[in-house]
Amino acid sequence: MCGIVGVTAADSSVFQGKTIGRVLRELLKMLEYRGYDSVGIAVISDGNIVVRKGKGKIDEVSDKLKFDEITGLTGIGHTRWATHGVPNDTNAHPHKDCEGSIALVHNGIIKNFSEIKKKLAGKGHVFKSDTDTEVIAHLLEDKLSDHNRKTFLTALKEVLEELEGSYALAILYSRDGERIYFAKKLSPLIIGVGNRVNLVASDIPALLEYTSTIIPLKDGEYGWISPDKIVIKYGDELVDYKARIKTVDWSIENVSKAGYPHFMLKEIYEQPLALRETFYGLQSDPNLEYIVERLVESDKVYITGAGTSFHAGLVFKYFLSKIGGRASLPFISSEYMQVTEEVGENDVLIAISQSGETIDTLTAVRSFKITGGKVIAVSNVLESAIPRESDFAIYMRAGPEIGVAATKTYLTQVITLSYIAIQYGYKSGRLTSSEYRDLIEKLSYAPQLTESSIRYSEPFAKMYSKDLKYKKSMYILGRGLGSILALEAALKVKEIDYIHAEAYPAGESKHGPIALVEKGFPVFFLYTLNHRAELVGNMKEMHSRDGEIYVSTPDQEAIRDSIRDARVIPVPIYDNEILEPYAHIPAYQLLSYYIAVEKGYDPDKPRNLAKTVTVE
Ligand code: AGP
Ligand code: GLU
Repeated sequence: MCGIVGVTAADSSVFQGKTIGRVLRELLKMLEYRGYDSVGIAVISDGNIVVRKGKGKIDEVSDKLKFDEITGLTGIGHTRWATHGVPNDTNAHPHKDCEGSIALVHNGIIKNFSEIKKKLAGKGHVFKSDTDTEVIAHLLEDKLSDHNRKTFLTALKEVLEELEGSYALAILYSRDGERIYFAKKLSPLIIGVGNRVNLVASDIPALLEYTSTIIPLKDGEYGWISPDKIVIKYGDELVDYKARIKTVDWSIENVSKAGYPHFMLKEIYEQPLALRETFYGLQSDPNLEYIVERLVESDKVYITGAGTSFHAGLVFKYFLSKIGGRASLPFISSEYMQVTEEVGENDVLIAISQSGETIDTLTAVRSFKITGGKVIAVSNVLESAIPRESDFAIYMRAGPEIGVAATKTYLTQVITLSYIAIQYGYKSGRLTSSEYRDLIEKLSYAPQLTESSIRYSEPFAKMYSKDLKYKKSMYILGRGLGSILALEAALKVKEIDYIHAEAYPAGESKHGPIALVEKGFPVFFLYTLNHRAELVGNMKEMHSRDGEIYVSTPDQEAIRDSIRDARVIPVPIYDNEILEPYAHIPAYQLLSYYIAVEKGYDPDKPRNLAKTVTVE
């Protein structure tokens, strides 16, 4: 989820004594939370494009490459969160075509970049980077060379028709002078309408210094801005955007959270997009086939991770067994010593870590490698320690997560691992090709379902949080997959609400935990697809001990028919277990979030916790 910006001014007085290099650096700083592994700018200068870019934080790179010395009136900038190609100087944006007359910045993922790259390489295009983005610059060059009189805008339209995936683009074309072309599909992009200056940016913060008048772009729109003109097109039609111009009244302080009061809420809301990006990324991941083959051929499959990542690992164990018919051995990474004696050369470890730096998981990886076993890392951060030290790596594409509590990275881990389990099912011959296609199609609904789950459950999460803030303890129960998802729900409540929350399989109540239940004791249930009759039975046993029953459910009536005073949290309807996490989990993320807000805690920075734990 990189940040992109573009600014074009009528004359230098607009910048109040600053160079455009400095202006771009400052605008990028406002978007730094969107990505921070590399940075770059491109400016039109005397009819040519000057590019400066490199690996590192914005200030480091701009000091080293002297951004502040670059003059001009029109330029674009990028702060990167790498998805394709490791963070280094060459992979940093902007990317250029062969001739150097086009420079562009991109946020998103081009799903079909390998095919386009192959085709263009065959026509003599030379690629410098490993990114998916660079193909866009060359494809534009290719379209423009088709016949001479084509305008850049027509070429851009043709390019967009060929691109699959997501993008927000800002593009300079030296022959067209002081103009920035743009396009949007799925990734955010907003136009800022100023006085003798116009801008584009991924997010409002980067616009505010120059204007509070904005036009949020819609998917499929493209066009250009100059200092005094804005052209927006959709297909062949010119868009009349006048009625869409808005004024925002944001302060610079709340901007990095893009208007959300906390990063956690913002990240919960980002989940549909993050899931989409991750799903696209998997579809264009060249390593995946080989990784699945290794899994199929292995003797034993181990799974490890800490906290949320371990919980995602348990979902993997579940689907690997259900879909792939394959048993696996999960262990919490700090407990690696429990398995070291049994690991053999032909065993595989799936090591899950969003940060890729958690010391416990890194130690488990190292110890596993000593035995000769192979390690597959699943991480959100390209080239972090765990993927670097592993034999293979698969990445989620969730973008940076700032809130300490994992939200979007959990669901993107889950979709990644579910995808691998489905691939496994097919490769191992357990799924027919039509069953395989069907499951992948089901999984592709995950982003939409997550969006609905947020919409349905949020008002209820808010409402119940007012009572729940007084509770000292609660149970969160489920059966089958529900009991695994409950673990993550309980971790959220513990870490940001400081309430004791225990998750266990609902059938266990009678073997001990039910002793704690008395009047007003909250017991949550995940009303999942399977084992519904047993779940209702479990609810009744808690209810008859005066427990307060809460149920996340796609079927409110079924619950109310059985327990009249149950407090339901509605979640969307789905018809396959593979979708269960996306329907239920957002409800619990929101619940824990609103309880923290009610209690006056900062959900982004829970006490005693750090985002990345690099000490044993
Ligand atoms: C999640 O909300 C936690 N803050 C924590 O459990 C986290 O998942 C754990 O520390 C593992 O981190 P990792 O995925 O970066 O390895
Ligand atoms: N896919 C592009 C890259 O890896 C853009 C990344 C993003 O938007 O996060 O460079």
